Amino acid sequence: MNKTPAIKSPKAKTERQRSAMRRDLLAWYDDSARALPWRVRPEDRARGVAADPYAVWLSEIMLQQTTVPHATPYWEKFLARFPTVTDLARANRDEVLAMWAGLGYYARARNLHKCAGVIADEHGGAFPNTEAALLKLPGIGLYTAATLAAICFDEATNIVDGNVERVISRIFALDNPLPKARRELRALAATLAAPKRAGDYGQALMDLGATVCTPRSPKCGDCPWQRHCAANAAGTQTDYPKKIKKAKLPIRYGAVFVLRAGGAVMLERRDDEGLLGGMMGFPGTAWGERPEDPLASAPCARNWELCAGELRHIFTHFDLRLSVYRAEIPAPTQDGIWAPLADIKRYALPTVMTKALTLSQK
Ligand code: ADE
Ligand code: SF4
Repeated sequence: MNKTPAIKSPKAKTERQRSAMRRDLLAWYDDSARALPWRVRPEDRARGVAADPYAVWLSEIMLQQTTVPHATPYWEKFLARFPTVTDLARANRDEVLAMWAGLGYYARARNLHKCAGVIADEHGGAFPNTEAALLKLPGIGLYTAATLAAICFDEATNIVDGNVERVISRIFALDNPLPKARRELRALAATLAAPKRAGDYGQALMDLGATVCTPRSPKCGDCPWQRHCAANAAGTQTDYPKKIKKAKLPIRYGAVFVLRAGGAVMLERRDDEGLLGGMMGFPGTAWGERPEDPLASAPCARNWELCAGELRHIFTHFDLRLSVYRAEIPAPTQDGIWAPLADIKRYALPTVMTKALTLSQK
């Protein structure tokens, strides 16, 4: 399935050029494919080895928010603990969230668990094998459906991620800025997408963007598409992709309260709805557009001391400034979840809460 409408762009390549490009990219991939633990190498695919959709799906969801080196230990841990999608579906959700801690975007972990449940309960534990059916699953969007269908089932989909956007915008010297140019970009990418070896082609294109056609200093001398590349011909590679300047992120303010008793700190589980939903954290204020009197939201009346230094943490839609307050009581008499500091890892704090703890200990 290819939902991108065909467009006649004056920039489109001829069929002859397109087939040369596919051949050149696949030949490069045969030599230079990155070795990724969830990847079936091109020589193995050629022998008929199939990718495991569960392993690939996990990797793709994790890689949407972080780099291969950061995601890899998480991917290994998930596969070891939950070897199949049914194991993941049957797992306790809090354990899944705890294992996700540090990867960010916790809604994704909740959707991951939900999606596993749907696959276990409604698909007999097997991933659907078309892009259209994959798209219906929770947490699987255009990119993930296209990627899984290509990598696992060799469906000739149109995979476009950030790396692919960069490569394609350079190849065609797309002067319209993103995000407005996205339709045109997707349509041009679709004109190249390979009908054969669709999984290898998609992974090759992503690898090319990740390793050769990099944002700041593309290695055009190593690029299998150099002779097809309009930006390279003009010497304007790093001008692309053109983007409409993003508005600065709004700032939000809040406070958290780190209450200590002996070697333990008091935590609470955050509401399911909203940011860091279902994760552990310190009690605190809502995060608002201007600083308010935080002590009105303190979990109990104490001698709260404001820790020196402001904590900053960037979320997708805002830039958070947190004040961190601390107080110490002799014994854990306040209602809450008392976490021994020696064992704090087990509580799987999201990164912003780990930063708050660190600040409170300075
Ligand atoms: N980045 C995210 N997913 C990828 C994949 N399957 N191949 C290469 N780079 C990727
Ligand atoms: Fe990117 Fe350079 Fe290759 Fe063009 S020639 S696709 S700019 S690496």
